[in-house]
Amino acid sequence: MSVQFNVEKVRHDFPILTRQVHGKPLVYFDNAASVQRPLAVIEATDDFYRMHNANVHRGVHLLSQEATDLYEAARRGLTRFINAPSEREVIFTRGTTESINLVAQSFLRPRIGPGDEILITHMEHHSNIVPWQMLCEQTGASLKVAPINQRGELELDALENMLSERVKLLGIVHVSNALGTVNPIEKVVQMAKRFDIPVLVDGAQAMPHQQVDVQALGCDFYALSGHKMYGPTGIGALWAREQILEDMPPWQGGGEMITKVTFNETIYNELPAKFEAGTPNIAGGVGLGAAIEYLTGLGMDAISVHEATILEAATAKLSAVDGLRIIGTAAHKAGVISFTLGDIHPHDLGTVIDHHGVALRTGHHCAMPVMQFFKVPATARVSFGLYNTLEEVDILIDALEQSREMFS
Ligand code: ALA
Repeated sequence: MSVQFNVEKVRHDFPILTRQVHGKPLVYFDNAASVQRPLAVIEATDDFYRMHNANVHRGVHLLSQEATDLYEAARRGLTRFINAPSEREVIFTRGTTESINLVAQSFLRPRIGPGDEILITHMEHHSNIVPWQMLCEQTGASLKVAPINQRGELELDALENMLSERVKLLGIVHVSNALGTVNPIEKVVQMAKRFDIPVLVDGAQAMPHQQVDVQALGCDFYALSGHKMYGPTGIGALWAREQILEDMPPWQGGGEMITKVTFNETIYNELPAKFEAGTPNIAGGVGLGAAIEYLTGLGMDAISVHEATILEAATAKLSAVDGLRIIGTAAHKAGVISFTLGDIHPHDLGTVIDHHGVALRTGHHCAMPVMQFFKVPATARVSFGLYNTLEEVDILIDALEQSREMFS
């Protein structure tokens, strides 16, 4: 079924897009850091607090039942959205970072020791580096890093050569937040499976740009964040195979994750509650559920096609700007373009561009090793959302040309 994507109509769903910034219409190109929220998400969260607010899974009273139904409906929605086989496999967390830390501490820590390896890639976000470094410090295991090339693509042959029985987990980003590279996850998973290596995918940046099907990917863990996919901050999820989750000990102890507690012993709850200690981010879950409905209504394929058009036009126009260097030119990219402009420091550039109403991110994008690889201290980065337009790309290019003249 082809879905008609009408960006002008879609923009009306986002109240913040009517804002002026420094007297100019807002052009929001910082979507990889956090996207804007549609009215559907804002209203779902608002309606939850106004009309249904109570704790979940705890009360027989009506409000608690309504809150539980809304929260669990969001889990069902997410399960369907990523084509997970069962709701028991979808654990709500604070986001991708917490999901990865959960896997590090609950899944891998009991299974790893000196001589073992954790393999990641050179294009990982800090959230898929630091939890593994911490685990290596705790266990004596070693962290290995698969290389990338000058286009910002994974060196697949090198990665394959690094796989062995010693590798106890492969952590890989689906879409790089700093480079835009889309990694061939299915292929990498097939390579890892020859050695029975569990694969964790950091899906934070993939979720807003493309339809994700965890079963088709073949991975064992998929981590995602609500605020990158038009939902609230402070909510995200970990998907993992049911048998793996059954075999993992709980990560945090507390209420909700138990069926019985005495001072002698505690019997843990079933999945997914076993991994959801304490009162969860209920309103966040409800908002995430609304975001998933919203994205489903628009159609992820239609969103991908629209964003690809913006990416292609922006890449061509940015490449034509004198002195502009795009960092990350992979053959397969999602809507992220990192760049430098002459010797203007990205922070100075970002500040000037902001005065044109254009929000972009400058810095290391929580991926310092990527900056080290490309020998730049920082980049400017534009990242596209479903509401961006070709006209906004032209505003960006004008702003960059004016900035270049101003700094020269
Ligand atoms: N990791 C987020 C980004 O790419 C914050 O900007």
